[in-house]
Amino acid sequence: MSTAAPNPAQNPATAPATATHSVVVEGDIGIVTVGYPPVNALSRAMRQAIVDGLREAQADAAVRAIVFICDGRTFLAGADITEFGKPPQAPSLYDVQDIIENSAKPVIAAIHGTSLGGGLEVALCCHYRVAVPSARCGLPEVHLGLLPGAGGTQRLPRIVGAAKALDFITGGTHVPARECLAIGLVDELVPEGQLRDGAVAFARKVLAEGRPLRKVRDLDDKMIAARGQPELFADFRQANARRFRGFLAPESNIRCIEAAVHLPFDEGKAVERKLFLELVGGIQSQAQRYAFFAERAAAKIPDVPSDTPIVNVAKVGIIGAGTMGGGIAMNFANVGIPCVLVETAQAALDRGMAVVRKNYENSARRGKLTAAQVEQRMALLTGSLDMNVLADVDLVIEAVFENMAIKKEIFGQLDRICKPGAVLATNTSALDVNEIASAATSRPEAVVGMHFFSPANVMKLLEVVRGAKTSHTALATAMQVGKKIGKVAAVSGVCPGFIGNRMLRARGEQAQAMVMEGAMPWDIDQVLYDFGMPMGPFAMSDLAGLDIGWSRETSQGATIREVLCEMDRRGQKTGAGYYDYDAARNARPSEVTRQIVLDFMARQGKVARAVSTEEILERTVYAMVNEGAKILEEGIAQRASDIDTVYINGYGWPVYRGGPMFYADTVGLPTVVARLQAYGDRMGAGFQLSPLLERLAAEGKHFTR
Ligand SMILES: NC(=O)c1ccc[n+]([C@@H]2O[C@H](COP(=O)([O-])OP(=O)(O)OC[C@H]3O[C@@H](n4cnc5c(N)ncnc54)[C@H](O)[C@@H]3O)[C@@H](O)[C@H]2O)c1
Repeated sequence: MSTAAPNPAQNPATAPATATHSVVVEGDIGIVTVGYPPVNALSRAMRQAIVDGLREAQADAAVRAIVFICDGRTFLAGADITEFGKPPQAPSLYDVQDIIENSAKPVIAAIHGTSLGGGLEVALCCHYRVAVPSARCGLPEVHLGLLPGAGGTQRLPRIVGAAKALDFITGGTHVPARECLAIGLVDELVPEGQLRDGAVAFARKVLAEGRPLRKVRDLDDKMIAARGQPELFADFRQANARRFRGFLAPESNIRCIEAAVHLPFDEGKAVERKLFLELVGGIQSQAQRYAFFAERAAAKIPDVPSDTPIVNVAKVGIIGAGTMGGGIAMNFANVGIPCVLVETAQAALDRGMAVVRKNYENSARRGKLTAAQVEQRMALLTGSLDMNVLADVDLVIEAVFENMAIKKEIFGQLDRICKPGAVLATNTSALDVNEIASAATSRPEAVVGMHFFSPANVMKLLEVVRGAKTSHTALATAMQVGKKIGKVAAVSGVCPGFIGNRMLRARGEQAQAMVMEGAMPWDIDQVLYDFGMPMGPFAMSDLAGLDIGWSRETSQGATIREVLCEMDRRGQKTGAGYYDYDAARNARPSEVTRQIVLDFMARQGKVARAVSTEEILERTVYAMVNEGAKILEEGIAQRASDIDTVYINGYGWPVYRGGPMFYADTVGLPTVVARLQAYGDRMGAGFQLSPLLERLAAEGKHFTR
């Protein structure tokens, strides 16, 4: 069974039908070169090319050692994900591995670019590995809810040891060649650009020194050493419990490495095979593979041609150096794009800049940046109190108070100041981008929403809000800028809350309603936490601050939130909100909140009933699905998978459940509809079933397939 480092470019529809191989003999070294553009995926044709090349070299009496190297920009970058779940076609990945591992002549893998998943599992069957310094190796299967199923979990620990294999395999990262050398995965680094010659020289050394025909599968010393550390696996599980919460794949990967330590190779491989088949057929891996492709699909806008001219964003202006402005600016400094921040007062500007510096210095303290990098990034950020400095920027992102009058005033000024062709973006969370564009500027086509999420330097999601008049160029530029600064961008049309917050609101309404029926805030939060969300709606409100949009002057004590604010229980920052917090900000249910809830219920003549876990989950999550369906039918979202991409990247939706729309498909849309109907009036007077949801359910269709 092959394992995957997926690459959408591996789509057989676009990949050429044939792979190439050549064998060149230099003295007693046979150089087998294979190629299958664009990324040398281990598709059937490639596997055949490898087998043919190796057989040829093995049959040549002059050849005493074999260098295995790839054409193009990378080593074998992984399996062909499109072959997943289909009957295997010979030669299998196992056949390829056997021919290499059982070769009577030593095979040296020469690695450049990336050696990922199945690609690394092939390299692990070679007797030695050399790489250029820029190469990276990794087993990223865990990110797709899988494990390396072609011996990777058995061979890697034998070469790097169990502890390092645990990090390597459950981390799924692309590990730089130098680190691979340090852990023993790579035997030697050869100079950049000289891979072939370096590998041939290494092969000659193997022969000259009479080095053994080393099979990784036979190495045992590190496994014996690991058997002397019985606490190794328990400690690792405990240390990573939070990171792995809810995911099945990390545990399966760990169990495979345990098997490598305790069982002979072939028995360990049988464990690996069994667990791989369980994962590949399971819903989590399906969801994670779906999410992988959903994220890439989100970058595509069907009616915007790929040759749309894009503004070259060499300088950015940001208006407002508050919570969002500062974080947004960091994204640009991180990729070397200079940014000018505009504020109304020096004090606000200084405060904003100081927060940015503090964030960078914290990263430096954690070893993520050098002191010099902190200064380089800060040097890219300048401040001004004069909007006229925005005359030469290519992109402006407005991040001032959420107030339409102020935003209009600012866009009016931008219209006068900015050069023609500049893209004018607003980071508004909920205001009407069309109104900002048309009422305030003479160039509504240049206006687009770029909705970042807090903290803006950390959160991956960027909702790119397409106004009625937004030009293809402004839209495509915003999408490309998002990609450049490492965000996952998804397009949303204009509506209150756009995709993400609009659905969150639907969830919040149900959560609030259930509090008035007898579920306490922590009961609701617990259900959503157990479902896999990082926190529930009430914990989230406490984190954000209950007083967002609240003021004492206008407060009427009409909601639980207002009463909490009036009592100065404004969330984590005040040590209390829906929850009570200790000094370390650990939450515990609050008697004060409970009493407020009970008082409200008494005043409204409501009697508490037991609200089941099932009801809490269904009403919150299905309400989101229903709103998502409306967003889809209104054309606010381009596709259901974009909604899922928004939720996974911006709201902590557990990726192993594939996003709300995918999740609804797994539950079954008829069930979703039936349950929402069964709750009837409890859903609230404003609740209406989405006609699209009802229709798809009636027709036996799905959102995402
Ligand atoms: N905080 C969030 O979680 C979040 C998330 C997404 C989007 N947003 C949106 O981002 C925008 C900014 O929110 P924030 O949380 O950063 O607010 P903030 O209050 O922290 O910062 C706003 C900043 O804008 C400055 N400002 C106000 N008027 C100005 C003007 N005319 N010219 C220049 N600067 C001016 C203020 O001095 C302040 O520093 C809002 O539209 C908000 O809805 C916020």
